[in-house]
This record gives sequence, C-alpha cells and structure tokens, in this order.
Amino acid sequence: MEGKCHIPVLLNEVLDYLDGDGEGVFVDCTLGLGGHAKEILIKHPKSSLIGLDIDEISLMKARENLDPFRERVTLYHSDFRYLPDLNLDFQKIRGVLIDLGISSFQLDSPERGFSYNQDGPLDMRMDLRNKYSAFKIINKSSENQLNKIFFEYGEIRQARKLAREIASRRKINKIETTTQLRRIIEEVCRWRPQKGKIHPAAKLFLALRIEVNQELKGLDNFLEKILHKLREGSRIVVISFHSLEDRIIKKAFVRMASSENCPPCLKVLTKKPVVASREEVISNFRARSAKLRAAEVVR
Ligand SMILES: C[S@@+](CC[C@H](N)C(=O)[O-])C[C@H]1O[C@@H](n2cnc3c(N)ncnc32)[C@H](O)[C@@H]1O
Repeated sequence: MEGKCHIPVLLNEVLDYLDGDGEGVFVDCTLGLGGHAKEILIKHPKSSLIGLDIDEISLMKARENLDPFRERVTLYHSDFRYLPDLNLDFQKIRGVLIDLGISSFQLDSPERGFSYNQDGPLDMRMDLRNKYSAFKIINKSSENQLNKIFFEYGEIRQARKLAREIASRRKINKIETTTQLRRIIEEVCRWRPQKGKIHPAAKLFLALRIEVNQELKGLDNFLEKILHKLREGSRIVVISFHSLEDRIIKKAFVRMASSENCPPCLKVLTKKPVVASREEVISNFRARSAKLRAAEVVR
C-alpha cells in the first residue's frame, strides 16, 4: 500500500468555514490520512485536534503523517457516530469536520476491494472488525435484498435484472472478486465503453459499499446529537459525495435551523452546497462530486 496518497478536497473552503472564533479544539471525524487535519493544525498553531477514523490502516498512516504535531493531536479508532458518547469536553470544541466516504488511499488498495477497476477480493469493509463484507452480501443475500440495495443505494434502473443474474450465477460458482462482479454487470448492462459514460459498476459498487459500512445509518441522529453538545459559535463542516448523503445533511441542517425547532440551534452558512472549482476538479477528479455544507451553532 506504499506510495498511495489522498488529496484533501475543498481544502480552502474547509479552512475558511472552520475559521470561527479563536483557538480551541477541532475534531476531524473522518481523519483519513490526515490531509485536512494537517492544514487545520498549521493554520491554528494554538489549537489541538481530535481525529477519528473507523479504518485502522488509515489511522496508522495518519499517525505517521501528523507526527510533527503529535503533542496537539489525539486519535481514536472509532466510528464518528460514537463521538457524542466519548468522554470529551464538548464545550472546548470550536470546529467539527466530516469528510464522508472513502479516501483515494483506500480506493487504490486492491486488497480492500473498493474499486471495480482493480482486481481484488469482494471486501469493502472500512472497519476490518466488521463481519459483514461485500462477499457476504453478494453471495448470501436474497435476490430481493440485492434488488433493494442496488435500487435504494445505487439508484440503479436495472437493479432487479442484476440481482436475478447474481443470484443465478452464484449457484454455479461463488462470486469472489471485484473483476468477477464487474464482468457480470458489464454483461447484464451490455456495457460498451463510450466517452463521457460512467461505467455501470460504479453505482453498484457504491451501493454495496454503503450497505457493507451502513454509511447512511444514524447520520441524521448523529448530527442532531453532536450539535446539541457543542457550544455557541462552533462550526460544523460536512462534505458528501453522493446525493443520498447530501439529502440527509441538508434536511438535518434545515430542521435544526428552523424556528419550529424551538429555539433554532443552528445557522446554516451555505445557502447552496459549495462545490469544487473547475481548476480543483482538473487537478483532483475526486472533487467533482463533492458537496460541502457548513453551519454554526447558535443558542
Ligand atoms: C474521504 S476520507 C477523509 C480524507 C481526509 N479528510 C484527508 O484529507 O485525508 C474519509 C475517511 O473517513 C473514514 N470513515 C468513513 N466513515 C466513517 C465513520 N462512520 N466513522 C469514522 N471514520 C469513517 C474512512 O475510513 C476514510 O478514511
């Protein structure tokens, strides 16, 4: 896995939106390799940072990358959804960053099975302690369950057809690798590469990843819980990469900023989601689907 890196997306925008009042503690809920975290630490030399990641391998890399700042950094191998339950002084926190999804480091590691472009085992677990994997879903879920996952999380029109074909093929031989699955998708969807057309496996792999890691579960509840714990003036910045996540974040922000939620506990700082500039997308293709929303806690 040596040599793989990850370019933090919307970096200047993240730093700007986190730039509230004074120094304090920042929390990076999805530390990855520590790209955003490092820049936050450089920009705020008197602040400290708490970093969480569910992926122990990424966390180890981040630990190395943030070594020059080790006196100001505390790391947790944890799902950020447990953050509100950690024994922390939440009143000291002045900024929280959530950069959802997976990093290029994870995507470009074939042995993790996240990418349909590289041959590897059907895995896709961010947390290696997780017993649920893409292999289990593909080989053990019922046809109806597969259809539901593909349709709900991948918004795939041919979900039923794909589910049927997978259920039939696995009776002959288990589907064990990313390449085997990609070939089935290509056959069912009669894939012919065309400029500007997205490979049909992209949506199905995303749907599987969401299911394996239960990525949407509790996101809404987490936002509500953490925002109630933070002090006035704290900022929260969330970057998402697909519409299902963005919809949850948008709705949660709107609900908490509404006067019906009495008193409102949030001021939304981004009327529309902030997206990457053309220049950023050219230099980092991953940024093309990033959407950033930011808010400030009010009391
Ligand atoms: C897009 S990357 C973050 C990259 C990071 N901002 C950087 O600049 O290096 C997302 C990271 O969040 C982690 N992650 C995803 N869901 C998580 C969760 N529920 N709890 C903790 N970490 C999570 C992934 O393992 C991955 O390392």
